Amino acid sequence: MSDDALGSLSQRLRTRWLGRAHEHHGRIGSTNDCAAAWSDAPHGALVTADRQDAGRGRFGRVWHSPPGASLYASFVLRPPQADARWSALGLAVAVGLYEGLAGTIGGLGLRWPNDLLVGDRKLGGILCEGRWAGTTPQFVVGFGLNVRAQPWPPELAAIATSIEQATGERCDRVALLAAVLHALEPCLEAFARDGFAAIRDRYEAACVSLGTVVAVSVDGGRARRQVRAIGLDHDGALLVQGDAGRERVEAGELLPAG
Ligand code: BTN
Repeated sequence: MSDDALGSLSQRLRTRWLGRAHEHHGRIGSTNDCAAAWSDAPHGALVTADRQDAGRGRFGRVWHSPPGASLYASFVLRPPQADARWSALGLAVAVGLYEGLAGTIGGLGLRWPNDLLVGDRKLGGILCEGRWAGTTPQFVVGFGLNVRAQPWPPELAAIATSIEQATGERCDRVALLAAVLHALEPCLEAFARDGFAAIRDRYEAACVSLGTVVAVSVDGGRARRQVRAIGLDHDGALLVQGDAGRERVEAGELLPAG
């Protein structure tokens, strides 16, 4: 058992519904897959693991998931209905995680759409997956937060960081998870009620991409174009100014320009 066993989360939890049903696994393929397979998972059900053998990121990338080094967590949302506004769910989750962490980590920011950064290094990421369960929509939202100072594999050495690396202090994963879930819950409630408009100001305040020149990619980094990120549309899509004029980017990622 690790020194900060996530199985004891319920003792620290201050939420009403998020994470109240909780499964913790020592080792698993992917917490997103496990949450999706939890057939009678209630709204807010949470899956965590100490280690993932098949952790997934956006664009089908591998999510580096060594034992005990990070938080690997996924939760289930079962809203009564979901419309196009739910495409901004990842942005709402990003605001919740940001607000749960910003008090303890200096230099924290969001890179559109939903990367958590410290400076220009990635601290965490979010993977939202939606599907229909019978006639009701179901979302599985996974997030990974790098916690321990750790030896990074070569491909991450220059671009990743962790909470302990950023703060120089030991981090208790249970307290951390309880804090982010506590911040996340009201954010998700506001988003479910009023969509992106409910969290727009807070997202903009945390987002470090706006006003900067970046490379935008919609295919996992194979093709990229240099643009200026000039703002957000009503639904959270990124507005960019490039050679072809002003455009909307609905689902993509931002990479360093140059
Ligand atoms: C990204 O930035 O590409 C998103 C990374 C999401 C990783 C988390 S770790 C917990 C959950 N389970 C997975 O397989 N992926 C997400």
